[in-house]
Amino acid sequence: MPNKFRILDSKQLMPDGLDVEKLLRILIAFDYKTIPGMTAKTEGTLDQWTKVFNKSPEAIRYLVGSNNRIVGYWYSVALKPKFYKQVLNGKVLDGKITHDKIMKMKRHHSYYWYNSVITIEHRLRHTKASRMLIRSFFDTITNLAKKDIFIKEMCSNAFTEDGEHFYKNMGMRYAAKVRGGGKMYARSMYPFTKNDPLMRNRELVRLYKRKFEKSHID
Ligand SMILES: CC(C)(COP(=O)(O)OP(=O)(O)OC[C@H]1O[C@@H](n2cnc3c(N)ncnc32)[C@H](O)[C@@H]1OP(=O)(O)O)[C@@H](O)C(=O)NCCC(=O)NCCS
Repeated sequence: MPNKFRILDSKQLMPDGLDVEKLLRILIAFDYKTIPGMTAKTEGTLDQWTKVFNKSPEAIRYLVGSNNRIVGYWYSVALKPKFYKQVLNGKVLDGKITHDKIMKMKRHHSYYWYNSVITIEHRLRHTKASRMLIRSFFDTITNLAKKDIFIKEMCSNAFTEDGEHFYKNMGMRYAAKVRGGGKMYARSMYPFTKNDPLMRNRELVRLYKRKFEKSHID
């Protein structure tokens, strides 16, 4: 049976031109529908996310079903290092992540990443479809590494038990309770631990080792 789900980037999703406001309205509604406990403070506003997205549009992928209907997506941004520390310590809600705190990603640089959201329709969790979405996250990190854009450290607010389970599975550790809701998880991308779950992503590991392990030879 053909796979009825596909992973798209923003251009593929809106080939006739990206309507950022329309897209973000859909995504915000999707967050409220799929993430329990979401509030205006934790979600943020359309205006805020439009400005953030315009500055940092690369690290997002959509899982779509028929007629390109979004059934899951993830979005991550590079934060300014000082602000990252505040986010990591649970002092900042998503509603306070504004465009002036975001960095545009450029070649030959490494960044502190905030995984703003990953979410999928409830019926699709723990299925092949969710694996596709998760795979697209690691593929994107790998493709960025191929362009010499690396992540030093990443953190994520796990709003739900599923979110917590998912981030632990990525080798992230509890970092702080988030003021206003959630638990912050974080990890350095390198070095990898002995049984690091990221080892499953072989190309990613190879590229990170080549970048950060001085003695590494391919
Ligand atoms: C977060 C969410 C998208 C995860 O999806 P899920 O279907 O629950 O994901 P799972 O934890 O079952 O993992 C599914 C698969 O991902 C893949 N995966 C997980 N970590 C991986 C890694 N480090 N490398 C490669 N693949 C990995 C695996 O294939 C795993 O399947 P496995 O059980 O065979 O190992 C989903 O639970 C969700 O939408 N939750 C609600 C929203 C939410 O709380 N989001 C987090 C805060 S924004």
